[in-house]
This record gives sequence, structure tokens and C-alpha cells, in this order.
Amino acid sequence: MTKIKIFDLKEQYKTIAKEINKNVTNILSSGQYILGNNVKLLEENFAKHVGAKYAISCNSGTDALLLSLRALGIKKGDEVITTPFTYFATAEVIALVGAKPIFADINPHTFNINYKLIERLISKKTKAIMPVHLYGQSCEITKIRNICKKNKIALIEDCAQSFGAKYNGKYTGTFGDFGCYSFFPTKNLGCAGDGGMIVTNNLGKSKMLKKLRNHGGLIRNIHEYVGYNSRLDEIQASILVTKLKIIDKLNDSRIKIAENYKKLINNKNVKVPYQAENSYHVYNQFTLRVKKRTRFIAHLEKHSVPYGIYYPIPIYKQKAFKDFNYKCNLSNVNKITKECISIPIYPELDKNSFNKIVEVINKYK
Ligand SMILES: Cc1ncc(COP(=O)(O)O)c(C=O)c1O
Repeated sequence: MTKIKIFDLKEQYKTIAKEINKNVTNILSSGQYILGNNVKLLEENFAKHVGAKYAISCNSGTDALLLSLRALGIKKGDEVITTPFTYFATAEVIALVGAKPIFADINPHTFNINYKLIERLISKKTKAIMPVHLYGQSCEITKIRNICKKNKIALIEDCAQSFGAKYNGKYTGTFGDFGCYSFFPTKNLGCAGDGGMIVTNNLGKSKMLKKLRNHGGLIRNIHEYVGYNSRLDEIQASILVTKLKIIDKLNDSRIKIAENYKKLINNKNVKVPYQAENSYHVYNQFTLRVKKRTRFIAHLEKHSVPYGIYYPIPIYKQKAFKDFNYKCNLSNVNKITKECISIPIYPELDKNSFNKIVEVINKYK
């Protein structure tokens, strides 16, 4: 039995190596490495794919969020409402622009922000809501959009884990003012390094974002804003152009694996993830809930089944945020951070590994 991997990026590369190698060689011989035809093509194809007017690439998912906050002029003294159960980057960028992240507890079934708890957190300082579509499943985004409209605040969707996910048949990322994606290699649509994308329907903001990602300007030596070096390079863009062509197939494979896990995992001590009715879940992670996680981990390790804990600490308890002096005590996130555990799910997961994972989990007592 070969070793089970938590993800396997090499296998996916093998299936598209010919096209990728050809494109990368062409780019290397062309001498055009930054902001060339591949970036332009990716942005066009990406916008078309998700159904947005404009797509602006950048250096990472983190920068996609950061640039969106900057494009909205969010700054010191402002507040942005988000989830305490996400990768640190979501809240980190709010602090980076000088604003304060405000946390609403999660729905323990979907792991996403509980929209019912958002409105009571809105104050005069609130400038935006930044929900996350965690693990590949949309949050209740239309409800959150209504709250934003009613209160005249912006909506930034963190789609780092949800490329391809839909809510009521519409792609995540296209509900808010900005949809922000990560191309980190383990994401559903991943490149061979770091990369990110922002989508918007606002022409003015799209122009501003193109400047912000390039030191605040498009013309050499003219800087309209204090910006960033946050350009996606041509090699990454060309890899993503290739992968975008097969992403639906890759997401289908993830969904099939998830469905089979749900069918075959049968253990009263292990809860499989819940999928909301109106949600098209693309399973960036397959996250279980177990009461005695340390014991469960020992069992998985004994049988060489890899796992990941996303995320073990609610963000408001992170040391980096100690100066915010949070007084909140959010019971659902406190509980879920102790119970969540993700098992391997990626399009290339082979049948033997899958069967072994199910067998080991079903044997757990
Ligand atoms: C929910 C979420 N937001 C933001 C990010 C940041 O993306 P990147 O690693 O591309 O900067 C990630 C990456 O893991 C993420 O999972």
C-alpha cells in the first residue's frame, strides 16, 4: 500500500504537463515575464467563467483582500465584520489597513459565519462585511448582501477556498462588491506558487485595483496611490489558463469523493460535513467533527491516515490580535476549533487510499 497523502500536486501536473511545459518554455523565450498576454487572457477567461465584468489578478489571496479594502478606502478607525473561523489572512488584512476586525460567531453546521448575528455588530464605524465561503461551501451570501444593502456597507467575499462553489446557482464571488480568490497550490484552482484574483462589476474600482497592484499607477513614474508590488507573473497566469479549462472536471471529482465519503463513513463518533440545500459545495476540504479529537488523531496516525486541522484557534484569540483586547467569547467557534478535523480530498485521491481512509475511520471507537 502506497503512503496516503493529504494532497498530491504532482499527480495533477502530470495530466497537463505537456501544455504547461510548452507555455512556460514559450514565456521564458519571449522575455515578457510580467503583465503580458497570459495575465490578460487569464483575467478575461476568469471573469467570463464566474460571470463578473472585471477580473484583476494579483500576487495572492491575501493581497486580493487587502487591495479590495484599500479600494474601498477602509482605514484606521473603521470596522469590518468577519468570521472568527478562517485562515488568519482574512482578518489580518483588516488589521493591516488599520481597521478593526469584528467577529460574528459561526453556524456550527456549515462552519460559516452566522448571518443572524451580524446586524447587531454593525456600528457607525462598520464599513464592510467580509464573509468567507469556508472549505468550498458558500455562506448565506444573499442574506448577508441584504444586510449590506440595508446598512449601506460594502461586501467583500473571501473565496480563497471556494472557486467554483455556487449559491442558488450563482458563483461565489459575484454577489458582493468584490470577490477575492487565492491560487495557492492546494486551492481548487491552484498555481505553482502564489497568486490571487479579484472580481468586480465596478469599472472605476477595477481601474483603481489595477493601479494599486502596481505601486499605485499604470504609467512609469506616475503614482496616483501608495500601492503594492502585487502582480501575478506570466508563468503562473499561463498555468492558471490551462487549469481553468479543466477546473469543472476537477471540482466534479472532489464532489464525487465527498459523496462517497458521506455514503460510506458510518461511525456514530464521527460527523460528516453538512451541505446546505441551495449550495453547490466544491469541497476544498472535507471536514469532520469528532468529540475526542486527540484520541481520533492518535487512531489516524496509528493507521497512517493524514489529516489537517483548519483551524485550531479562533482568530480573536490569536496573540497577534492581543492589542484589540477582544471581550467576545464565541461559543460555536470555541467548540468547532476543538472538534474539526479534515481528511484527504483532492481530485487525484486513488481508490485504495480512499477505501483505507473509510475503513480506518469506521473502525474508530
Ligand atoms: C479563507 C482564506 N482566506 C485567505 C487566504 C489567503 O490566500 P493566500 O495564501 O493566497 O494569500 C487563504 C489561504 O489559505 C484562505 O484559506
